[in-house]
Amino acid sequence: MTAMGEPVGVAVVGCGTISSAYLSNMMSFPDLRVLFCADLDIERAKAQAAKYGVAAAGPAAQALEHPGVELVVNLTVPAAHAETAGAAIAAGKSVWIEKPLALDTASGHRLLAEADEAGVRVGCAPDTVLGAGLQTARRVIDAGAIGVPQTALALMQNPGPERWHPDPEFLFQRGAGPLFDVGPYYLTALATLFGPAQQVAAVGRRGRGRRVIGSGPRAGTEFGVDVPTHVAALVGYAGGQAASLVLSFDSPLRRHGFLEVTGTEATLALPDPNNFDGDVRVAAASGDDWTPIPAEGTTAGRGLGVLDMARAMRGGVPHRATGEIALHVLEIMEAIERSISAGTFEPVRTTFAAPAPLAADWDPHARTLMA
Ligand SMILES: NC(=O)c1ccc[n+]([C@@H]2O[C@H](COP(=O)([O-])OP(=O)(O)OC[C@H]3O[C@@H](n4cnc5c(N)ncnc54)[C@H](O)[C@@H]3O)[C@@H](O)[C@H]2O)c1
Repeated sequence: MTAMGEPVGVAVVGCGTISSAYLSNMMSFPDLRVLFCADLDIERAKAQAAKYGVAAAGPAAQALEHPGVELVVNLTVPAAHAETAGAAIAAGKSVWIEKPLALDTASGHRLLAEADEAGVRVGCAPDTVLGAGLQTARRVIDAGAIGVPQTALALMQNPGPERWHPDPEFLFQRGAGPLFDVGPYYLTALATLFGPAQQVAAVGRRGRGRRVIGSGPRAGTEFGVDVPTHVAALVGYAGGQAASLVLSFDSPLRRHGFLEVTGTEATLALPDPNNFDGDVRVAAASGDDWTPIPAEGTTAGRGLGVLDMARAMRGGVPHRATGEIALHVLEIMEAIERSISAGTFEPVRTTFAAPAPLAADWDPHARTLMA
């Protein structure tokens, strides 16, 4: 399918660790034109621009003045998301934001209201839900292969990202920890499959007060931990489904991407929701007898949500990884945090429109925008 219009002009704000994956993918999508790389650290922005063939680099304010930029891809650290996204919206740009949408639900609400007012769009990671693995899981469930979906079990355990991330402090501050850093992958996948949540309860603990950077030029540097590093949460959905999640940076044992959905007839093992591909398997009554179902769809990786948003902007249709879903996931995470502190069940009030599934042959490398 083609729509009228030029490729959508994009600026990347925040040229750190994850920007490489975005830039290499987005430069290969003909419907996007990456025009500018921005960062607080101008040298870092220039280096990424040079590496990926982006014409211009500089401070974020300059990116927002670029007349060709319609969509700002915000890859800053969580504490900067609301401010940097707010500036893009104020400049009349649509904005894609890495997860989490903001540090708190109130700031998230404000961002969406400002975007509404300005007539621009907000999209938010994770876009792994658009990948072959999770879209195949959705198709399998929608086709009735497990009966009526009823419960989910999610497990993510590892010793912590300070082992590999060269600047990991933000991953142990407000806006991160296993809940806010990794939780969005599981909670967004479950939101896509179950719809909106209604209530949560959780316990959490902070394994150690201080951690040590394990890689990069600052290896050996100690830093403080501000957030729970082990979270066990229960989520009740408006549709009656129940999910149990363990998200932990306190485990020598690594268990990544465990996500199962059990229905009235069978259980579906989903791929790691932090990935774009992976096996989907169905087991009937006996857990010993899993039937693999090949994943169908795109595995192109981070930036697919940006591309879907850009095509939707030109086509005048809703995009899939919306700010509303991200706000709902943010509210769930904030309610889980409140439950950990207060020892109570906490309500979740926001909701969202279910995103349309992607066709199995959706091609990010096709040119669909024609002048
Ligand atoms: N690293 C990963 O594997 C990964 C994976 C998925 C998502 N994410 C998400 O991507 C985001 C960035 O993570 P990262 O690991 O790349 O962090 P990072 O610290 O490596 O990079 C962040 C960059 O943003 C810049 N920055 C901060 N505030 C800014 C501001 N106000 N204006 C302009 N630039 C600013 C920093 O200078 C830095 O270069 C986070 O929201 C994170 O949750 C990271």
